Amino acid sequence: FNEDPSTQKRFRAGGETQAPRSLSTRAQLYERVFPQYRQPVEVGVFSLDSDRAFFNDSRQLRYYVDPGNKPSFNLRDGYRDRFIKRDDGVKERLDHILRWIIANRSKLHSTHTSSSSCTLGVDFVTWRGHLTKLLTTPYETQEGWLLAVSKFRGTLYMSEVETEAARVNRENRTERHEEMMYWGYKFEQYICADDVNGVPDRGGVVNTNEAFCTVVQTRLADHKLLFSGEVDCRDKDPRAPPAPACYVELKTSAEICTPKQRSNFHRYKLLKWWAQSFLPGVPRIVAGFRDHDGVVVSVETFHISKISQLIKNEYNCWKPTVCMNFCSDFLSFVKSVVKEDNPRVVYLFAWDPHRDVTYTVHRDSQYTFLPDWYIKEMAS
Ligand code: A3P
Ligand code: MG
Ligand code: MG
Repeated sequence: FNEDPSTQKRFRAGGETQAPRSLSTRAQLYERVFPQYRQPVEVGVFSLDSDRAFFNDSRQLRYYVDPGNKPSFNLRDGYRDRFIKRDDGVKERLDHILRWIIANRSKLHSTHTSSSSCTLGVDFVTWRGHLTKLLTTPYETQEGWLLAVSKFRGTLYMSEVETEAARVNRENRTERHEEMMYWGYKFEQYICADDVNGVPDRGGVVNTNEAFCTVVQTRLADHKLLFSGEVDCRDKDPRAPPAPACYVELKTSAEICTPKQRSNFHRYKLLKWWAQSFLPGVPRIVAGFRDHDGVVVSVETFHISKISQLIKNEYNCWKPTVCMNFCSDFLSFVKSVVKEDNPRVVYLFAWDPHRDVTYTVHRDSQYTFLPDWYIKEMAS
């Protein structure tokens, strides 16, 4: 790690034969050519039902119904009486992805090592949302993160741990914030039909336990990735391209009335929207802009491939290449640090804004996250 002077700036060396001890997150250090990012390929899907039960199929997939560009959706409707909220105090870690892996082992590119044990043929298994956080890290100034990593049969499993600050925020949300979190899901209900020829049921119950997830495989530089992400809906046209290109991400945001609001939307919101959809190869976002009372006043489509052009007029704006290079270098850092292949050992990577990424090692601790049922199943 000590040959290239630019590498020295990113990594703080841990001694001649040791892995680096920390990784810088300064954006300027990652301004180089865009790394190779292979077209994500959908290798499977799964669904979580209204009770959060796992199904190895697409039963929760919904279909996009064009709302026109001036609908009048009231996002507050049903918050009191037709809303079932998932318990976000329950930490599911990687469990649903692990269930999917067990159900689809034969479909994955597996290899047999000399000890005849089965390995997955990927370097990392994680949630898309964790990768989104990595992509936005060089520009994040508010919220830090904790990522637990365990190596098992050659694959690195990466699972987020809630920070103390995030837990305090979650347990102290205002009533207004709680309601506004509902608005995004209500918007989905106005736009999505359960059946390909159906219409949205705006009088139904919004249940945030329900989810449809895609599982994709791709490669970032020399890192083979398998990750899953929730998908809001798909194009109902049977001639639409195959997944993930037929998927549509839905978003809500405050209406934009001033140049300052437009600039903030470009600088902060579009960064998060871009990162989330670029990773799994979802090509477009349909955004509902709402007023202070939760009424959608306009709907606009954003094509992911055009977002970097849209933001280029902002002074000192975020750059996709910085996001991807930081993610790639972080994954290299993880590979250099996580050496012990043992599901009971967790390497906890920690980051706070304006700091470097550091890590600690934990054996048989509260952080261990690979469940016994998964270890046993993979051994058989
Ligand atoms: P909006 O983002 O439109 O407000 P997603 O857009 O990722 O499909 O998520 C759907 C909705 O879940 C969001 O809608 C938001 O209301 C809620 N949501 C997503 N991520 C969240 C987070 N980290 N914290 C709180 N709410 C979140
Ligand atoms: Mg979603
Ligand atoms: Mg969405």
